[in-house]
Amino acid sequence: MYRGTRLRGARILITGGASGIGRLMALEAARRGAEVAVWDLADDGGASAAAEIVAAGGLASAYRVDITDSSRVAEAARETGDVDVVVNCAGVVAGKPLLEATEESIRRTFEVNTLAPYWVTRAFLPGMIARGGGTVVTIASAAGLIGVARQTDYSASKFAAVGFTESLRAELRADGHDVGTLVVCPYYINTGMFEGVETRFPRLLPILEEHDVALAVIDGIESGREQIILPPFARLVPLMRFLPTRAFDRVADFFGINHTMDHFVGRAQQSVR
Ligand SMILES: NC(=O)c1ccc[n+]([C@@H]2O[C@H](COP(=O)([O-])OP(=O)(O)OC[C@H]3O[C@@H](n4cnc5c(N)ncnc54)[C@H](O)[C@@H]3O)[C@@H](O)[C@H]2O)c1
Repeated sequence: MYRGTRLRGARILITGGASGIGRLMALEAARRGAEVAVWDLADDGGASAAAEIVAAGGLASAYRVDITDSSRVAEAARETGDVDVVVNCAGVVAGKPLLEATEESIRRTFEVNTLAPYWVTRAFLPGMIARGGGTVVTIASAAGLIGVARQTDYSASKFAAVGFTESLRAELRADGHDVGTLVVCPYYINTGMFEGVETRFPRLLPILEEHDVALAVIDGIESGREQIILPPFARLVPLMRFLPTRAFDRVADFFGINHTMDHFVGRAQQSVR
């Protein structure tokens, strides 16, 4: 039975590890004794995160990979070698209403947030199954549990990421493999990806601190958690599904969910590279 993956002496791959929670997870995993591979498009594949780890006495390498390119993913997986933990963390958001989003950015959102975890996970899972352990982590979002205005593409791409992980968990269990999965559904985090978002009730639904989220995921990998929803109040969202749709919408509106994106600016040129 899956009981988590100890990071001391393990090898971990983090996509999107050049920035935000990916970078912080890379630093924390290395601090706990893991050898870290960072994949990213930016910062020469996450070279500065890897350099920071090596300067602190850890083991790390960086690879410039566009994870939407399945043949580059397969090639980079060969260069990286087997890993015990895969963290699908790279993500993009455009934050536009449906009729203002470009076709290119809608496609890009699904390519990065939904499809890329297939290519990355398929590249490493055979090795994990053969060695009889490991963890596949998918950083989804609370927007993968509830649809949000100005996120028709982002929210749907994260619902798919949640479904991907749940199906994979079922498949691994049905086949008797001891490889585990962890899906992470955070509300907004102060990394800059969602720059400009606002929250109506910050005590119940705070903008999360990036270090707290990174630490929760790394702890979750080691303790064998299968789902993390942050902050705790957001765990009520799945329960709200028992409500009739109109009541569900009124609760979401009361908590200001559909105005959180009113002043969204996000990261410059993030959705199209
Ligand atoms: N920031 C939030 O409010 C928030 C909330 C919930 C979930 N998330 C999710 O957490 C994850 C990390 O978000 P973050 O806030 O740390 O973002 P971030 O923008 O700081 O980091 C994302 C990283 O992904 C990389 N990336 C993007 N496209 C790529 C591609 N095609 N190939 C390789 N790398 C690529 C970027 O270069 C960047 O370094 C994302 O999946 C995001 O959707 C973020």
